[in-house]
Amino acid sequence: MRFLTKKIEEFDSDTIICFIWEDYKANSPLINYLNKLSDGQLLNQIETCKIFKGEFMETYKFAINENLKLLLAGLGKKENLTRKKFSQVVANAARCAKTMTKNNSIAVELIENTNECSNIIKNFTKEDSAKMTLCSLRIGLYEFDKYLSDKKPKVETIELLDNNLTKEIEHSAEIGAYTSFAMKFAKDLVNEQAQIATPQYIANIACQIAKEHKLEARIYDKNQIKELNMNAFLAVGQGSVHEPKFVHLTYKPKCTPRKKIALVGKGITFDAGGMNIKPASSMLTMKDDMTGAASVLGIIQAIAKLECDIELHAICALCENMTSGSAYKQGDVLTAMNGKTIEVDNTDAEGRITLADALCYCDKLNVDEVIDIATLTGAVIVSLGNNITGVMGNNQSQINKFIETSIKSAENTWQMPILDELKDNLKSNIADMKNTGGRQAGTSTAAWFLSNFTKSNSWLHLDIAGTAYLDKSNKETLQGPTGVMIRTLINYLIS
Ligand code: BES
Ligand code: MN
Ligand code: ZN
Repeated sequence: MRFLTKKIEEFDSDTIICFIWEDYKANSPLINYLNKLSDGQLLNQIETCKIFKGEFMETYKFAINENLKLLLAGLGKKENLTRKKFSQVVANAARCAKTMTKNNSIAVELIENTNECSNIIKNFTKEDSAKMTLCSLRIGLYEFDKYLSDKKPKVETIELLDNNLTKEIEHSAEIGAYTSFAMKFAKDLVNEQAQIATPQYIANIACQIAKEHKLEARIYDKNQIKELNMNAFLAVGQGSVHEPKFVHLTYKPKCTPRKKIALVGKGITFDAGGMNIKPASSMLTMKDDMTGAASVLGIIQAIAKLECDIELHAICALCENMTSGSAYKQGDVLTAMNGKTIEVDNTDAEGRITLADALCYCDKLNVDEVIDIATLTGAVIVSLGNNITGVMGNNQSQINKFIETSIKSAENTWQMPILDELKDNLKSNIADMKNTGGRQAGTSTAAWFLSNFTKSNSWLHLDIAGTAYLDKSNKETLQGPTGVMIRTLINYLIS
């Protein structure tokens, strides 16, 4: 997909999206221009016939002339439009415009919301919106048709329109374009069936990424993982016919890095639960248990393309959690890379075991911050549902900065606590800790478990089990993978 920025009168698309506020009075330059093209019919229809009120999520299709179709997209009242709501309007409008275009090209105007100046939830400039608009358009246009025999034509070109394009707006649009690419990349990989997207397959993709973007790549096979003493990670994958792989990609800027960050993604290519096998309905979407890995592999490509001034490590411990004669069992005691021992209380709490070793590995990288992203606990769905990501960590100012960035990125997050009291939940009589406790505080307990395996004092943990994959469409994203937290993480890394 191509993204272009253009002046209002220069677009070549046959379909154009125009945003309208509910309480709009003055017409935008674009509306005036389109009104002229329609011989005054457009404003006549809106103002006299009141065909369209501009309510939040309202859409209206209007033919300007034989070769140009307009989609009006309602934003609602200025004081009510959050960045999240804006993203919902844009994604929905994109889905609608896709059915209208014949030349597979959509133009969209750049808008701002400068009503409430100090409120970052609602206020956004054209610079902010260049990023958001491109990301949300591509969220709306996304589809995975690899296995459909009936493939529909795809939108190939997006034109972002504004008469005062600044360098800053152009740069922000570029960030939006690479961010939306990272999201598409991750969603495609999550959508791929687990019998194809094996640890080996994902490791191969990581190799290709490294070649294409000139990254350092280390891919460890089973024996090398053993040599690294990652015996906890190894145990989880031992029941699968697919051997585990440990992936470490590094992006280094040309200048001295402003900071160094390790991004760790949970990479269970299929989570059957192991010997504590999941019921069929819970196993249904478990090919998505490598969403964290897919996300970090998407993000490092965007950071490399943008030639960011940070050093970034992308790390994935890839394996499959299966039942078999060789699978790890309840009661097994595993020793992680840092020497701490884990009594396996439940083989279905496998993600934290693989992440334990991945976090230990990061201790050796000499980075300023470690961030992991993981489809870790069903409990986070009970606490926060499918539209809010759980954020935890051991550095409150890092957590605050991350949550603020998520608001600016049109993503929802909420902090969950990690407190010493949680330790009792995982008390083991024969090992340093068990991997699961009772049913209480499942998300925080998992995070407490992870905190034992990092020496970093800026470690952030994202539990995306509820938000990575939607069983039912929401206003912004259709059923399936969401690419959650990719926008926020890229904005966090570059700021
Ligand atoms: N991958 C799952 C978590 C999950 C659940 C992701 C639902 C997406 C949707 C994880 O490995 C898991 O099975 N967690 C268990 C932990 C339990 C045994 C303590 C869970 O949450 O049920
Ligand atoms: Mn599991
Ligand atoms: Zn899992």
